[in-house]
Amino acid sequence: MFSFGKKKVEQEDRKKALTSTLGIDLGTLNTVVAKPSGDKFDLYKIPSVVAVKKDDPSYVLAVGEEAKSMLGRTPEDIIAVRPLRKGVIESVAQAEALLVFAMEMGSEEDTTSIDRIVIGIPGDASEVERNAVEEIGRKAGASYVLVISEGLSAAIGAGLPIAEAAGTMVIDIGAGSSDLVVISLGGITDIETIRWGGDDVDDNIVDQVKQKYEVEIGIHEAEKAKIKVGMVHSNADLEIETTSLIGKCMKTNKPKEIEVDSTMVANAAEPIVVKIVEALAAVLERLSPELISGVYNKTIVVGGTSQLKGLKERIFEEVGIPVEISNDPMTVVAKGAAIVAAEPRALEPEVRLKAMK
Ligand SMILES: Nc1ncnc2c1ncn2[C@@H]1O[C@H](COP(=O)(O)OP(=O)(O)OP(=O)(O)O)[C@@H](O)[C@H]1O
Ligand SMILES: [Mg+2]
Repeated sequence: MFSFGKKKVEQEDRKKALTSTLGIDLGTLNTVVAKPSGDKFDLYKIPSVVAVKKDDPSYVLAVGEEAKSMLGRTPEDIIAVRPLRKGVIESVAQAEALLVFAMEMGSEEDTTSIDRIVIGIPGDASEVERNAVEEIGRKAGASYVLVISEGLSAAIGAGLPIAEAAGTMVIDIGAGSSDLVVISLGGITDIETIRWGGDDVDDNIVDQVKQKYEVEIGIHEAEKAKIKVGMVHSNADLEIETTSLIGKCMKTNKPKEIEVDSTMVANAAEPIVVKIVEALAAVLERLSPELISGVYNKTIVVGGTSQLKGLKERIFEEVGIPVEISNDPMTVVAKGAAIVAAEPRALEPEVRLKAMK
């Protein structure tokens, strides 16, 4: 265990902690591993995809990048799947394979050399889901496993003033879920999780292209277009960009080139943006007046989907909060988890309160 004892011991322990701790963001689309290295982090990004045998889904054939390239293209006897859907574990065996792979990537020797891991998962995960993730971490070889809310982890990773009483808020818009978390005195005071995110935008782009052009496109193509010309509706003066992609004509079955522009992506994103705004309104309704100025002064938006242009402006128009979009949106959860892994007691109430004095 980590020691807060004599200075020398503390330094030695800290050194050990830095070589044997990992923070992991077990995401729907990406799993990110952060390994403390001096005052920086070594970061590894792994697509959250596992390829398994069709007749024996616990038989893992490939994990990560290799498995991702198989999505939608596998022969009959292989399936490539995402172990997490909407932030929820769909298959424990596949999630375990993903976590072991992530831990191996972050460890110099084998996974048993990792003392502590902290894993970020969606804020509304059930006790059963939390326990399942913890169990997987332990089975993979870590002796200490802590599962914390992605939102809290993101706030710590983004360097928000979480220990202050004034309050601060983090909005994490991921692939399958989005978390809105209010934090004060180092703890979560309110949380709202919606099972909506960038994946739903991709699905809607596929539908819109189908309706407009009678062309079917793959989900990866839709995601690529979203990343290239992505935008949400707002009053911001943004340039409408266009990109072209190849789909399958539903009438002729022949390949056909079509165009997707920023407005189409904004239309596809609109239902998700509305859900996020509703969740924000619910949080603000419950927010105590003591925390409103902290939230006004310091709210940060993280997660891959936060990169859609115009989001900052739209949030301000809707709820009057001048949010900051993180310049490091996809690794803050893992970094925050790694910080907690190195100092696990940092989240305990007496340590938090002491740190304030
Ligand atoms: N530049 C970009 N513009 C818009 N969306 C983007 C961009 N880059 C990535 N994304 C989207 O961000 C999402 C992935 O973000 P992130 O890695 O934060 O999700 P995750 O942590 O895997 O998911 P979750 O937190 O929901 O489990 C995907 O939907 C991806 O398409
Ligand atoms: Mg995430």
